[in-house]
Amino acid sequence: RIPAPCALVIFGVTGDLARKKLIPGIYDLANRGLLPPSFVVVGFARRDWSHGDFEALAKEAARQHARTPWRDEVWARLSGNIQFVPGSFDDDAAFDRLCACLDAMRDSHGIHGNAAFYLSIPPTAFPTVLKQMGRTGLASNARSGGWRRVVVEKPFGENMETAKQLNDLVDDVFTAEDVFRIDHYLGKETVQNILALRFANAMFEPVWNSRYIDSVQITMAEDVGIGSRGAFYDATGTARDVVQNHLMQLLAMVAMEEPTGFDAAEIRTEKLKVLRAITLPKDIAADTVRGQYLQGWVAGERVKGYLEEDNVPADSTTETWVALTLGIQNRRWAGVPFYLRAGKRMPRRVTEIAILFKQAPHLPFHPTDVEMLGNNQLVIRVQPDEGVTLKFGSKVPGTAMEVRDITMDFQYGEAFTDSSPEAYERLILDVLIGDRTLFPDAAEVEAGWRVIDPLEEAWAGVKPEPYRAGEWGPRAADEMLARTGRAWRRA
Ligand code: BG6
Repeated sequence: RIPAPCALVIFGVTGDLARKKLIPGIYDLANRGLLPPSFVVVGFARRDWSHGDFEALAKEAARQHARTPWRDEVWARLSGNIQFVPGSFDDDAAFDRLCACLDAMRDSHGIHGNAAFYLSIPPTAFPTVLKQMGRTGLASNARSGGWRRVVVEKPFGENMETAKQLNDLVDDVFTAEDVFRIDHYLGKETVQNILALRFANAMFEPVWNSRYIDSVQITMAEDVGIGSRGAFYDATGTARDVVQNHLMQLLAMVAMEEPTGFDAAEIRTEKLKVLRAITLPKDIAADTVRGQYLQGWVAGERVKGYLEEDNVPADSTTETWVALTLGIQNRRWAGVPFYLRAGKRMPRRVTEIAILFKQAPHLPFHPTDVEMLGNNQLVIRVQPDEGVTLKFGSKVPGTAMEVRDITMDFQYGEAFTDSSPEAYERLILDVLIGDRTLFPDAAEVEAGWRVIDPLEEAWAGVKPEPYRAGEWGPRAADEMLARTGRAWRRA
């Protein structure tokens, strides 16, 4: 899978995402030999930089954050094809220059008019940049003589209404097949493996339903705080930042029906069906919990509380942690609660999906012999310790028939020797190839907002529950599960 000759234009190239993920991802692709011989990276930003200045910065970013080993000869090949176009988004002349630059590269660099535009920019800048691309013809396949694609980063709006506006805006300028919305969770190997686990094997799918499954817990815990993103985060909160997109996608992968095939349209059809079947709790106040971190200790380090972070108002009611009880109204899942939780400043970073099975209908053991036996669990460990764990009961060696839980582990690091590509690396390659399988479409984005909007409405102005940084979220979340006799898995 090697893309056709092309250019990748990055808007917002001075940002964190470009430095930590995009440029290192491009280097990794080059290092694995996955880029076409004619490939150009064009940076666009409001900086007085020469091509050389940008190349030096890009090199530093790649050296620092690439996943594959550093090789001078790989960079040497890339570096001759790194260009910079200075300009601000409202500067017509700058976009005319970018357009001319890509036109010239059709022959000088043999890119055949092919270009992907990566919008790694604040959502407020979207309308301006898209209009410029429409005005100059940058977005036009016909004019370019090749293909033109656009990559849109989240947040995809801040509610249903703004998401629709954004979708309309993008659709005005690009055709739907040329739009790639990035949800980087779908680029993770462990997330793609959910479909392999479910649909390539015989043993999981027969029990993958409300008859055998008691509940599902999806956890996305991060040890980091909000870093330097105070202004963005305070206007956003955890539900919009990661539940609307990443957690909804994880839920869809776990709960969807078998697709008729593995191409983009077929997978999307099934994801959309299940996303649209999600039901909210009747009593939002009782079956959701929002939290906000107080100062505390994480990994031996003293950290600030959310309200002391830069660019966060002292009376902010934005959540940094959230737990939800969702249902799915279809034959497979009716009655099975899906518990989702996500938050910052947890004791450690871990994302996992735990399928908790019902207890055996009858236990022919002495009650004291099965005291240490819990529910069978299948845990998909998304990160950082990638793998799958199966937890089930086993006899304790000895003369008594005592049964307790043990685990069986699959670890990526042990089973596979090649390092898996970083999510962004994989997704950039898919954009250049034109494979939209791992990209949510407009309808999926809107299905996510259908869940989040009523929650946000119910939460407006309500103070989140405080929790200490370095703890697993507010106590109220334990109570939420305890009311139905359940408990959160110790992730
Ligand atoms: C981003 C969120 O989409 O995902 C961040 O905006 C979050 O707040 C990040 O930290 C987590 O990504 P990952 O891949 O490190 O789990």
